[in-house]
Amino acid sequence: MKKRKLKKEPLIFLFVIACILVYYLNFRSKPVDKSLSSLGYSSKEVSIVMKNVSKNDYKFIKKYDDSIINIISSRDYKKENFKKYLDYYEKNTDSDINDIITIINSDYDLMKYKASSLLASLVKEKYYIYKNTARYLDYTKEKDVSKIISIVNSKADYEFYTNTSVSNIDDGNLVLVNKFYHLPDKYEPNDLVTLTSKYNQGANSKLRKEAADAFMKMVDGAMLDNIILKNSSAYRSYDYQVSLYERYVKRDGKEKADIYSARPGYSEHQTGLCTDINTIDSSFANTKEAKWLKDNAYKYGFILRFPKDKENITGYKYEPWHYRYVGEKIAKIIYDEDLTLEEYYAYYVEK
Ligand code: DAL
Ligand code: ZN
Repeated sequence: MKKRKLKKEPLIFLFVIACILVYYLNFRSKPVDKSLSSLGYSSKEVSIVMKNVSKNDYKFIKKYDDSIINIISSRDYKKENFKKYLDYYEKNTDSDINDIITIINSDYDLMKYKASSLLASLVKEKYYIYKNTARYLDYTKEKDVSKIISIVNSKADYEFYTNTSVSNIDDGNLVLVNKFYHLPDKYEPNDLVTLTSKYNQGANSKLRKEAADAFMKMVDGAMLDNIILKNSSAYRSYDYQVSLYERYVKRDGKEKADIYSARPGYSEHQTGLCTDINTIDSSFANTKEAKWLKDNAYKYGFILRFPKDKENITGYKYEPWHYRYVGEKIAKIIYDEDLTLEEYYAYYVEK
């Protein structure tokens, strides 16, 4: 007798647990189930909501809208973002659900911007910078999203020589000098060294020490490949650039001169970090020396500063002879990622 009684006890225990469980599940799900059904959601839709929305978030569904089901059913839907999707969707009921999801999933606070396929594409881009969002959206001269980002990051959505500021000298080898950043008044580097005739054929033969060492190493390296390189113009003082630019303006007019010559204070040559190599002429592009430089300069820390097809970013026409020292590590990134210094600086330094 005693033994039989003992065997029943676990069964009774299990039964009680099962009753509690059934009661609990019923108690928990029924009101939600009911309220969603009363809003007009089908039982299939109710089960989609219950499966994919946290219990705490059910209350945010206040009316029937099949777009809510579409949001929840989307491939990129994330449970934790449900409330944000709803809020954003309410402000953008005409927009594509997938754009809404992409924009919210981006982790940026973009609520104040109208949802659009352009915004959704922007946030997926590698070089997207949050603070530039409004300017990307305003830039209508270009359709290609990655180009919009490059141009705006480089400030080139502004007219050249407007919105200018002083270059940050503390950036060292990365100091940015272009049509938006100018050097402090009469800036002159304090470590200029003069290149010897083995490395130089021009009147402006000075480079900053580190750049000069790298340049000599590059010239020596090129020589092993039977490539002869010589500096034709390196550091140029502010005053020198004044006379150069004035001469060009006299000859070609300001508009034309601005395409190939920097205004005083805005020339990278004043940094002592760049060099015009061999022939300062577009014919240089087709020489074996120019090709060697294009493929190898980065290994010595130099970048082609004004590349072809990037005129709208750099503000200058293609200069196959003009190389800028930035150091080996950065030069490799710029080379590998096919960037200009402007694009690199915006994304990797300024941001
Ligand atoms: N030619 C380049 C842009 C300069 O004048 O600095
Ligand atoms: Zn130059």
